[in-house]
Amino acid sequence: MHKIALIPGDGIGPEVTAEGVKVLKYLAKKNDIKIQIDKFNAGANRYLETGETLNEEDLNKLAQYDAIYLGAVGDPRVPAGILEKGILLKLRFYFDMYVNLRPVKLLDKRYSPLKGKGKEDINFTVVRENTEGIYTGLGGFFKKDTLDEVATQEMLNTRKGVERVIRYAFDYAERRGREPKVTLCDKSNVLTFSHNLWQRTFADVKKDFENVNSDHYLVDAITMKMVRNPEIFDIIVSCNLFGDIITDLGAELQGGMGLAVSGNINPEGVSMFEPVHGSAPDIAGNNTANPLAAILAVGMLLDYLAYPELASLLEDKVSEALQADKLTPDMGGNLSTEDVGDYIIKSLEEDEDDE
Ligand code: NAI
Ligand code: MG
Repeated sequence: MHKIALIPGDGIGPEVTAEGVKVLKYLAKKNDIKIQIDKFNAGANRYLETGETLNEEDLNKLAQYDAIYLGAVGDPRVPAGILEKGILLKLRFYFDMYVNLRPVKLLDKRYSPLKGKGKEDINFTVVRENTEGIYTGLGGFFKKDTLDEVATQEMLNTRKGVERVIRYAFDYAERRGREPKVTLCDKSNVLTFSHNLWQRTFADVKKDFENVNSDHYLVDAITMKMVRNPEIFDIIVSCNLFGDIITDLGAELQGGMGLAVSGNINPEGVSMFEPVHGSAPDIAGNNTANPLAAILAVGMLLDYLAYPELASLLEDKVSEALQADKLTPDMGGNLSTEDVGDYIIKSLEEDEDDE
């Protein structure tokens, strides 16, 4: 029995996760997989009513689940940062989800923003460190709001934290089953302390993976390579800050936010899967939000629960929707959110009829 906690969240979150849940339930039933999905109330409405984001009791309950399926959080009625910090970042830190896994896979050549680059060229994964770096909140102000103001923000890197994410990247490369390679992306020529630690740790971990190739690019150079020669990448491992930035570039390479997904992974604990896009308050409640990223996030969740064949089946179905233009307006189609979800279910059912 797999226990999944559903946090629909704000804006379009409930609309797109409803389609994801529809697909998940269908696949579970068809394949005799026992799942239990329990909804958690977190987001703007709860915050406005109670002043709470996630409390200790929620976190204790969530700890009993195998995975969390999240829509998006963020609402114009709540000051920026409260829900993002109080829910998203809280979950990532509390459950020590130290890997942010971001596949960059073009599913249909028509959505490639790069001239002459197709499906075989754009297919790699970014493993972003998700709990340290410059995002821990260390730092402060001195003489705030004066002409002499000083602001610092420290980049925290621990040997343990760096090693576990690099090891995950090598493991993942090995498991992906193609010619495995891990590329280290850093700024070791300037960040001569923190990224020197990354360099030395990378060299050490590499020794345990004889069958995995490796190389290295500085972060500025890698942005050029990602655009010019994306085909050279298999797995890229990077610190929190640079991983954040290059994964948005990656999202565009694969056809935009409507298709980008992210896994926040603690291989020994609770992991969380989500579409990369936000709560899109500008289109919330219209039944026009694109559910494909939320549906692909279900694929990633299934892969994590050790059903990789179902993950690739879902990816095929999303590719079919792209080819057949069964899409929402953001991708040039004229279907509703629900119609797209129904289309995916229908094409899964057709497979069944063929059997
Ligand atoms: P956003 O991703 O919500 O929206 C950016 C633009 O893309 C908007 O025009 C929106 O309509 C469109 N869009 C996004 N997802 C779409 C979808 N599935 N289908 C069709 N169109 C879609 O980013 P924005 O506007 O910067 O942020 C809105 C709120 O979401 C903010 O409160 C922000 O903090 C939050 N946010 C939450 C994230 C999360 O929960 N992981 C990630 C990013 C932003
Ligand atoms: Mg980002």
